Amino acid sequence: MSVWAVLAAAGRGERLGSDRPKAFARLGGRPLLAESLERLENSDWIDRIVIAAPPEWEEPCILVAEEIAATKVNSAVTGGAARSESVRLALEDVPEDATVVLVHDAARPLVPEEVIERVLAPLSEGWDGVVPVVETLPRGELVAAQTPQAFVAPILRGALAGDVSNASDCASLVEGGGGRVKVVEGDRRLLKVTDVEDLAVVESWLAALQG
Ligand code: CTP
Ligand code: MG
Repeated sequence: MSVWAVLAAAGRGERLGSDRPKAFARLGGRPLLAESLERLENSDWIDRIVIAAPPEWEEPCILVAEEIAATKVNSAVTGGAARSESVRLALEDVPEDATVVLVHDAARPLVPEEVIERVLAPLSEGWDGVVPVVETLPRGELVAAQTPQAFVAPILRGALAGDVSNASDCASLVEGGGGRVKVVEGDRRLLKVTDVEDLAVVESWLAALQG
């Protein structure tokens, strides 16, 4: 079984409002991309990584990989106009014999190893995809999907084959195509950095982790 990670980092980060794409905003003294990339690199479960990069930032993505001495990074491909298109373009660099694809947002820097394990496990029990969620209201009336999301590779490819420009995420595409998607517990630390306040929160958590 081979597990490939697709790191979606191609967004512009308009709501963050930095002078560069969000993946290159500073977090703990390095580009935001470095944190999730290093965690995927260090995961016992992941074999190879493809980064979807903002147009003209492919080379800087590879430099970030070199700075953390990553050995699993296969390539940095140019992302598309929408997140799902970026994932589809990255999948073109994932070989046909890959078993599983883990899709993760670079905008969620603090990916815990336990969540990677939690989303991969159900794939060996017959599920097509796995999505981690957190409750967004005190009594769990609403849930919000997070990443990393894990998929049987050919099923994800199939789900991304049509028009994906309006898709919310890969799990909903797989489910819409008739795939069986399991929901598992996510993690508060997987907060997505959208604006400067989120960046400050994640920065404080990271500082606490580093003691
Ligand atoms: N993403 C991507 N390709 C796109 C759009 C988004 O790979 N065309 C990635 C982002 O890099 C991010 C994740 O998808 O890691 C979640 O997207 P979001 O938080 O919306 O990031 P941005 O699109 O960069 O931010 P904004 O919407 O504020 O411009
Ligand atoms: Mg966006």
